[in-house]
Amino acid sequence: MSSVTPKSVVKVIEPARGLRGSLTLPGDKSISHRYALLAGFAEGTSHITNFSTGADPHSSLACMTALGATATTEGRVTAITGAAGVLRAPAQPLDCGNSGSTMRMLAGLLAAQPGEFTLIGDESLSVRPMERIRQPLRSMGADIELADGHAPMVIRGGALQAIHFDAPIASAQVKTAVLLAGLQAQGTTSISEAIRTRDHTEHALRAFGAELDRDGDRLHIAGGQKLKGLDAVVPGDLSSAAFFLCAALLFEESNLVLDALGMNPTRSALLDVFIALGGAVKILDVGEQHGEMVGTIQVNRSPGGLKGLDIGGALSAQLIDELPALAAIGPYTRDGLRIRDAKELRVKESDRIALVVRNLRAMGAEVVEHEDGMDIPGGQRLRGGVIDSGLDHRIAMAFSIAALRAEGPTEIHGAEAASVSFPEFFTHLESLAVR
Ligand code: S3P
Repeated sequence: MSSVTPKSVVKVIEPARGLRGSLTLPGDKSISHRYALLAGFAEGTSHITNFSTGADPHSSLACMTALGATATTEGRVTAITGAAGVLRAPAQPLDCGNSGSTMRMLAGLLAAQPGEFTLIGDESLSVRPMERIRQPLRSMGADIELADGHAPMVIRGGALQAIHFDAPIASAQVKTAVLLAGLQAQGTTSISEAIRTRDHTEHALRAFGAELDRDGDRLHIAGGQKLKGLDAVVPGDLSSAAFFLCAALLFEESNLVLDALGMNPTRSALLDVFIALGGAVKILDVGEQHGEMVGTIQVNRSPGGLKGLDIGGALSAQLIDELPALAAIGPYTRDGLRIRDAKELRVKESDRIALVVRNLRAMGAEVVEHEDGMDIPGGQRLRGGVIDSGLDHRIAMAFSIAALRAEGPTEIHGAEAASVSFPEFFTHLESLAVR
C-alpha cells in the first residue's frame, strides 16, 4: 500500500456478471489533436463536432489559442478560427500537460515559425523521450534545445529544408511532426515507415486542403501549402472503446452496441484481436468522414469463451494503446497472453510494462515481466486488490476492467487520471455493468 500514488481519487469497482447496453464514445483523441492543430493553423473557421472531452486534446487546443488561434465551444461543436499560417510566440511557455502528442506534433508546426517557443509538460511528460523528434526536425534545419533528451523543449523556428525521413521507430507522432514541418519547408519532404502507423494526420491534412501523395510505403508532402478551415465530426474513440470491448470478453452475458465509432484500418487491429480472443463483432453500419471510417458495431462473446493470444511484431505497434486493457484480461483467458516487441510501452505516460505487472500481482496474478512485454498465464482467479494508476489514464481504466471479474472489490487509486482521455469512463462503466 505504501507505493500507492498519494492524495489521489480512489474508485471502488465491484465485480460484475456482464456488460450490456449501448454507448457513444467521446471523440477520438488522436483525431481531435490533429483537428485542433490544423484548424488552429489554417485560414478561416472550422467547426468540429464531438471534439474529445479528454484533457490531452484540450492541451493541444489551449496551445493553439496561446499561439494566436481562437476557440469556443457551444454544445457539441467547437469553433476554431485559425492563425492563417502565422503563429506568434507567447510570453508564457506552452503547457502540453500530460500530452506527448501535443508536444511532439506541435514541435513540427513550430519548427518552421520564426520566434522562440518553449514547450513544457507535467512530471510524466517531462521524462518522455523527445530526441526522436529533434533528430529529423534538426536535419530540416530547426534549432531545438532539450534538457537531456526531454522537455522543456525550446524551439527557435525558422526556414526549413525538405528531407527524406526513414522512420527508425514506429511512431505516428514523429511522422506527424515531420509532415507538419514538411508542409512549411522548401521542397518536397518524404517519409518511409517500416511499420505503418496510424494515418490520421494524412487524412486530416487532405481534409484541410493539403496535397499528399503515397507511393508504396513512401509519403510525400510539398512545402508551402496553405490549409483551409473545415466542418468535421470526430468519430468515437476506439482506444477508449477498447476497455469496454475487453470487459465484454469477460462474460457470457455481454452485449454492447457502440455507435459512431472510429474504425480507421490503421487503428482497428483491436477488432481482429477481439475476434481472435473469442469475441463476435457485427457491423451494423459503416461510412466515411474526411477519410476516416466510422461505424456502428454490436459485440458479444462467442460461446467458446475467452481464448488466449500471442501478440508481437507489427501487431504490438498497432495495438500499443490497447495493450494495457488486453493485459488486464490476460489472466482470465484460457490459454494466456504473451506480449512481445512492445518496448515502447516503457516510455508512455508511465512505464506501462512495470505498472501492469505490479498491478496484476497486486490482484494475485502470476505474470512474468520481459524487457519488451510480459507473459500472463491463463486460467487464473484474481482477488480484488489495491491498484496504483501511477496517474496513467490507461492503467486506471485497464484495472477497472480487471476488477469486474475479481473476487471482491478493487480500489483504483489515482482514478482521476482517466480524464486525460476519457472523463466519462467510470460513469459509463457503472451504467453498463450488470450486477
Ligand atoms: C498517437 C500515437 C501513439 C499513441 C498515442 C497517440 C497519435 O504514440 O501511443 O497515444 O495520436 O499519433 P507514438 O506515435 O509515440 O507511437
